[in-house]
Amino acid sequence: MSALRGRRVVLGVCGGIAAYKAVQVCRLMVAAGAHVSVVMTDAATNFVGESTFDALASEPVRRSLFDHSSAPISHTQLGQNADLVVVAPATAKLLSAYANGFSHDLLTNVLLATTAPVLLCPAMHTEMWQHPAVLDNVAVLRSRGVHLRGPATGPLAGGDEGPGRLVEPEEVVAAAEEVLAGSTGSGDLAGLRVLVTAGGTREPIDPVRFLGNRSSGKQGHALARRARDRGAEVVLVSTATFAPEQGIEVVPVDTASQMHAAVMEHSPGCDVVLMAAAVADFTPVAVADHKLKKRDGVPAIELEPTVDILGSLGECRQPQQTLVGFAAETADVLDNAEAKRVSKGVDLLVANDVSAEGVGFEHDTNEVVILAPDARTRVPLADKATVADAVLDAVLDQRARRGVDHSEERS
Ligand code: CTP
Repeated sequence: MSALRGRRVVLGVCGGIAAYKAVQVCRLMVAAGAHVSVVMTDAATNFVGESTFDALASEPVRRSLFDHSSAPISHTQLGQNADLVVVAPATAKLLSAYANGFSHDLLTNVLLATTAPVLLCPAMHTEMWQHPAVLDNVAVLRSRGVHLRGPATGPLAGGDEGPGRLVEPEEVVAAAEEVLAGSTGSGDLAGLRVLVTAGGTREPIDPVRFLGNRSSGKQGHALARRARDRGAEVVLVSTATFAPEQGIEVVPVDTASQMHAAVMEHSPGCDVVLMAAAVADFTPVAVADHKLKKRDGVPAIELEPTVDILGSLGECRQPQQTLVGFAAETADVLDNAEAKRVSKGVDLLVANDVSAEGVGFEHDTNEVVILAPDARTRVPLADKATVADAVLDAVLDQRARRGVDHSEERS
């Protein structure tokens, strides 16, 4: 049975060429048993007529804060009564207004007034989607728990091609079902326990100094959030600050040795291990008790190797476990990554060229190639949640190929 059955959904439609697809989204949601109230922005009416939604939705379309004066249902009631608010297509303007709390029309009022989960499906030109202002707004919204699906990559209005297409109506509806089901513990990763490591380890030299790297933990955190949103139980071992969020058990660590201990403790019950952390390969042999002083001259810091956490997981892995390694490379990316996939004995290796523009460490975007024994999937430059989804899709695909079905496993 669809998770939409009997649920009240506000479908927001913004002004973009993809607004025509919202008509099909509305039909599919109503067919799935949802009560759909459509809110159009003024710009949306340039693309689709109100009467189309009037005919298909569960009640007359709303456009203005001041409509329906005879039988008022205020923006607050619309937002408060909703089980889910979906905006498809969501324009750059809508993302900006929502991220900044700018309530200039009925749809933004509904978004600010609701406590229901919100799903945004962006659609815009590639250049706009990849603009830092838009990416910042997306990051803010995600950090507040807003769900995003898409944009998809493909031909765009105007003849160009790239990320920016609204995902297909069926995918919008599937994402809406996932979000609703996520609050009740299902989704395509339901039944899986997923361990994610994130961030760069810090190897102390003295009480104030450490050897570190540029990893921010953002990709690992996005993996944890998306795995949780898709129904998995998630344990996140992270060196980077992660404020408590429902559905994610956080194990804070600092050093490679602490990360190793945490992973060894938590991985045995896990079906999937995503080693997104940038683990130091070397650590100081000794940590000075007191701050090293300049007057004592240039210190010689002797290093020793850390444990290869992924390597040791590979040695003691359970047959049902899917191991995913990550490789941040700066040269010969695919050759180095393929060698690592084989030497680490992992199911999947996610490779990125961290020297490329907008990729990897400290960025909100990433561009990766996912290497499996029998396939390579290129994920073009996208926000880290989109990349996380592609990695999780590859995990499910790999598990299906290996005949590991978690729904049977857990039943
Ligand atoms: N990794 C690990 N333990 C380590 C070092 C790395 O578990 N001590 C994991 C990382 O989390 C990542 C994968 O191994 O998933 C590849 O990490 P990377 O640093 O790229 O590989 P290394 O084996 O350290 O090789 P090199 O640094 O020489 O490229």
